[in-house]
Amino acid sequence: MNSAVTTLPDSLEPGKIPAHVAIIMDGNGRWAQQRGLPRQQGHMAGVKSVRKITEAACRIGIRYLTLYAFSTENWGRPKEEVSALMALLVSCLHDEMPLFMDNGIRLRVIGQSDVFLPEVRSALDAALEKTAGNTRMDLVLALSYSSRWELVEAIKSIAREAKSGRLDPEFVDASVVNRFLATSFMPDPDLLIRTSGECRISNFLLWQMAYSELYFSPVLWPDFTEDMFYAAISDFQKRDRRFGKVSSSNQSK
Ligand code: IPE
Ligand code: IPE
Ligand code: MG
Repeated sequence: MNSAVTTLPDSLEPGKIPAHVAIIMDGNGRWAQQRGLPRQQGHMAGVKSVRKITEAACRIGIRYLTLYAFSTENWGRPKEEVSALMALLVSCLHDEMPLFMDNGIRLRVIGQSDVFLPEVRSALDAALEKTAGNTRMDLVLALSYSSRWELVEAIKSIAREAKSGRLDPEFVDASVVNRFLATSFMPDPDLLIRTSGECRISNFLLWQMAYSELYFSPVLWPDFTEDMFYAAISDFQKRDRRFGKVSSSNQSK
């Protein structure tokens, strides 16, 4: 299956593929509920979408794909749902290894990793290690992640550095803050997609999304297809990103 060659559907323009796409994969629970199934079944169906969209992202040459898989606040869900999600994560890391290795995908994790049970932690560590040499795409899983957690951790670290005299507070700027974030190894997301019709950010990459393009799809995550993903990228390609300046076509007016 290893097709290291980038292949674009006709709807997409080469040269304008976003480097970093982040996705809030939402709607698994409602998908299951609509079918009279337990929420866990929705999460299992959601894994199939993860596989499809990961392959599609790789195929069109996205360099970083960040998936919001479990938020800090999700620990507050019923115990059975949390355990099922953790078990699903462990089995996925095992089952999807051929997908990662065949496609040159390096797995990364952002989030508070010390709260996981040892079996989850060791499955994660093994997958991170196995894929560490892959260079085609980074698949970044946000696990036990929330933006406020990340920012609080960064602020604590910066304060510690300043207190010890290793960092002059006067030199703290946006690039210093970036260095202390869990996402320091990658650029900010160009595009954020959220499925399920909810139009909110739910504590995801608040700092990093300062200038991301936002795309909300009404489709529940287990029903989200490659074509819908390409449609989101195509929509992104039509946007005029000004970053607070004036559009290049208007500059002389
Ligand atoms: C997203 O689907 C997956 C996780 C948060 C783990 P949800 O489980 O939030 O599904 P809904 O939003 O309840 O439908
Ligand atoms: C955001 O979805 C977190 C993930 C997709 C992992 P939630 O379902 O937890 O967010 P809210 O509760 O709708 O804001
Ligand atoms: Mg939800």
